[in-house]
Amino acid sequence: MAVVFPDGYRLAALGKDHPRRDFRSGVAEVDDWLATKALQHQKKRLSTTKVLLDGAGEIAGFYTLATGQVDFGDLPAEVIRKLPRRALPVAILAWLGVGRDRQGSGLGKRLFAQALADCHHAGEVFAFVAVILDCLNEQAKAFYQHWGFQELPGNPYRLFISPAQLTAMMTADKD
Ligand SMILES: CC(C)(COP(=O)(O)OP(=O)(O)OC[C@H]1O[C@@H](n2cnc3c(N)ncnc32)[C@H](O)[C@@H]1OP(=O)(O)O)[C@@H](O)C(=O)NCCC(=O)NCCS
Repeated sequence: MAVVFPDGYRLAALGKDHPRRDFRSGVAEVDDWLATKALQHQKKRLSTTKVLLDGAGEIAGFYTLATGQVDFGDLPAEVIRKLPRRALPVAILAWLGVGRDRQGSGLGKRLFAQALADCHHAGEVFAFVAVILDCLNEQAKAFYQHWGFQELPGNPYRLFISPAQLTAMMTADKD
C-alpha cells in the first residue's frame, strides 16, 4: 500500500537538524517524547522515528515504531491459538502525533497508514504476532479504534491488531 501525503510534505527519518523541540500536538507527553527522547532512542537502536516535514522544514507530524514482547497470557484467545506459551514478539506503534494546527486534515490517518505499512513490510522479515500500542487518552483510543484496533483483555488502554488484520488493512483502500 502506497501512502500519498499532500503536495509539499515529505517523510524522513528523524535527524538532529529537524526542529523537534518546536513540535506541538497538544499532548505534552507526545511533544516531550519527540523533543527530548526520540532521537536518543533512535541512536541507541531502541526505536525509530519518522517525521513528516512541510515545505519549510517544520515537523507536521511523526510516528515512532519499536519491537517488544508480550506475555502469552496478555493476548486474546484468537491471537494465541496454537502459539507457544512464552513471551511473544510484537511490533509497537509507540507514538503518533500531528501538529495541533494541522489536525483534522488527514495527516494523522496517513501517518498511521504509513506506520502500519512499515510494520507490514518489517513483518515480512522479522515476524511478530500482533501490532500493539498504548493510548494516552480517550481521544487517542477512539482514533485507533476507528481504524480497527481492539483492546487487549484486561488492559483497556493497550490496543492491538493481528497480523491477519494488518494484511487486510494493507490490501483494503481506506483512503
Ligand atoms: C490522534 C491524531 C494523530 C489524529 O491526527 P489527525 O491528523 O487529526 O487525524 P486525521 O485528520 O487524519 O483523521 C483521520 C480520521 O480519523 C478520525 N479521527 C480523528 N481523530 C479521531 C478521534 N479522536 N476519534 C475518532 N476518530 C478520529 C477522523 O474523523 C478521520 O476519519 P475519516 O477519514 O473517516 O473522516 C492527532 O489528533 C494528534 O496528534 N493528537 C495528539 C497526540 C496524540 O494523542 N497522539 C496519539 C497518542 S501517542
